Amino acid sequence: MQSIKQQLQAVQTLQELENLKVQMSGKKGVLTLAFAQLKNLEGEEKKQKAQELNLLKQEFESIYENKKSELQTLELAKKLEKERIDVSLFTQNKAGKTHYIHLMIEKILDYFSLLNFEVCQGSLIEEDFYNFEALNIPKFHPARDMQDTFYTRDQKVLRTHTSPVQIHTMLNKKPPLRMIAPGAVFRRDYDLTHSPMFHQVEGLMVDEKGLVSFSHLKFILEDFLKSIFGDIQVRFRSSFFPFTEPSAEVDMSCVFCQGEGCRVCSHTGWLEVLGCGMVNDNVFKAVGYENVSGYAFGLGVERFAMLYYAINDLRGFFEVDLRN
Ligand code: DAH
Repeated sequence: MQSIKQQLQAVQTLQELENLKVQMSGKKGVLTLAFAQLKNLEGEEKKQKAQELNLLKQEFESIYENKKSELQTLELAKKLEKERIDVSLFTQNKAGKTHYIHLMIEKILDYFSLLNFEVCQGSLIEEDFYNFEALNIPKFHPARDMQDTFYTRDQKVLRTHTSPVQIHTMLNKKPPLRMIAPGAVFRRDYDLTHSPMFHQVEGLMVDEKGLVSFSHLKFILEDFLKSIFGDIQVRFRSSFFPFTEPSAEVDMSCVFCQGEGCRVCSHTGWLEVLGCGMVNDNVFKAVGYENVSGYAFGLGVERFAMLYYAINDLRGFFEVDLRN
C-alpha cells in the first residue's frame, strides 16, 4: 500500500493516475480487499484496523485529488501549446487567390480597356450633389426612393451607385471621353439576393453631338455580353433612369437553360443584367457640357459573377471561413 502511495506521487499522466486508483480502490483493489478482510477480525483489533484503513483511504484520496488537478492543468497547457494558432502561418503552403468579384471586375475592365475606356475611380462617401443632384435626381424627387442609402451626420451619402463617377470625370475632363468605373456601392438592403455593400461597374462615353448614338450603345453592350458569356441572345427593354433618356434595361438569354426557362431566370428564359441609356441633357447641364451626346451604362458585379461562376448564394462572397 505504501508503494502505491509512492507511485501516486510519481505518476506523470492522468491515465497512469486512473490505473493506480483502480489498483487501490477498484473492485479488486488493495484497499477494497483490505476492507473486505475486516470481517475476519474481531473487537478492538477490527476497530483499530478499520480506523487505519479509513485514514489510508482518506490520505490516498487527498493525494489523488491534488495530483489529478495538477495533471489536468498540465495536460491542458500541453494541449494548448500543441494547438496554438499562429496567425502568421495562415497562408502557408496556400497561394492567395483573387476574389471572384475582383476576377469579374478584371474581365470587364479587360474588355473596355481594349476599346480605350479609361479606368476611373470615385470616392465611397459622396456629396449629395454627385450621387443624386447632378444625376438629375433632385431633392424630394420620387426617384430617390429607388435607392435607399446610408447618410452620415453631415449629410454625406455612402454612394448608392457608381454613376457619381460620371459626374467627377466630366467635371475633370473635357469631352470627348470614355470611362469605365468599377467599385463598391451601398444600399439599405439585406436579404438573400441583396447585401448592404456590393459592386458595380459604370461606363460612359461622350463625344460631339450626333457622334454617339443608341446604336453604338446597343452594339457595344451586346458585343461585351457575348465576349463574357459566349453564345447568348441580348435584348433591350425600355425603362426609366433619371440620368438617361431614353433608358433601357438589357437582358440576356439565361446562361443556365439557354432560354428554355429555369429557376434562375424565374422561368422567363431571360436574365436582367444591365441598365443603360443616352445621357440625359440635364446631366450634361449639371457639369457644364454643351453640344455633346453620350451613352452610359451600369451593371452589378455580384450578379455577373454569380452567373459566370455559377454561384448560387450571394452571401458566400462576403463570408470568411476561418479554417482556410
Ligand atoms: N445607376 C444605376 C443603378 O444603380 C445603373 C445604371 C443605369 C447606370 C443606367 C447607368 C445607366 O449609367 O445609364 O441602378
